Amino acid sequence: MGFDDMDVDTIWMDGEFVDWEDAQIHVLTHGLHYGTGVFEGARCYETERGPAIFRWPEHLDRLYASAAPYEMEIDHEPEELTEATLELIRRQDLSSCYIRPIAFYGYESLGVSPGDCPTRTAIAVWPWGTYLGEDALEEGIDVMVSSWRKHASSQIPTNAKTTGLYVNSLLAGEEARRNGFAEAIVLNKEGHVAEGPGENIFLVRDGDLYTPGLSQSILDGITRETIITLARDLGYTVYDQATISRGELNTADELFFTGSAAEVTPIRRVDNVEIGDGTRGPVTEEIQSKFFEVVERRTDDYDEWFTYA
Ligand SMILES: Cc1ncc(COP(=O)(O)O)c(C=O)c1O
Repeated sequence: MGFDDMDVDTIWMDGEFVDWEDAQIHVLTHGLHYGTGVFEGARCYETERGPAIFRWPEHLDRLYASAAPYEMEIDHEPEELTEATLELIRRQDLSSCYIRPIAFYGYESLGVSPGDCPTRTAIAVWPWGTYLGEDALEEGIDVMVSSWRKHASSQIPTNAKTTGLYVNSLLAGEEARRNGFAEAIVLNKEGHVAEGPGENIFLVRDGDLYTPGLSQSILDGITRETIITLARDLGYTVYDQATISRGELNTADELFFTGSAAEVTPIRRVDNVEIGDGTRGPVTEEIQSKFFEVVERRTDDYDEWFTYA
């Protein structure tokens, strides 16, 4: 569904609420040419206590942290971005939505050095369903190991959520879809499992969970950290600094992706090799159902993870 079909009309830009059509930038914007933007993707869930943003302070912290390597100063305090986001949700009467804050170097000059380019900041919110298709959460998805490797963290900060990085995600994801798969798994420069184009990955073996460590060129996913916490609270052992070889994917008992967009999505096949029974496995199901119990606020636990609109 495109934006034109959605019932949203307001964007927050550089301190002002503007009409959706008026949220425009110049074609010589630095960020457009060199990928010098940093962004976030968060979800606001429908709950009995009204719309609730999941782990919003963590998303904001990561936004400012992503800007740091690029010496980008975001001219707005976190409180202002929070208030703007809550106001966008209330004004547009959204019960649930996706939230996209972005900061980028704007229009002034077009050397690679951003020089005096101002930092522009915007926030948009819109209704968004499941990321990898309606059946994905229950039935799982088929994925392929991409022929594209993830850039090494010695080449570009992979723990920063920078717009330019996503050309790699696009290449991997589109290659997978062209070949009939729903999504890709991307290996790092060393050939170890890194993550999906927009997801972290977990492997289940003999009842324990493994997920690639931060030194494997991954984004430090907020859902990843959430799942590590929930799984440990459920009594699982989680190895969160794992090095996972490509072959271990095929022999895993279960695999699943995590992400703000993908939530907890089971993987049932990798390169046409069935994982476990080729369906959502029992550990994935338990963790996934805990995740949805928490985000839909069917429990009072973990209330500190929510910002209510
Ligand atoms: C490359 C990449 N890895 C992992 C993730 C998952 O991170 P999070 O759970 O914070 O959304 C994302 C999504 O933001 C991503 O783009």
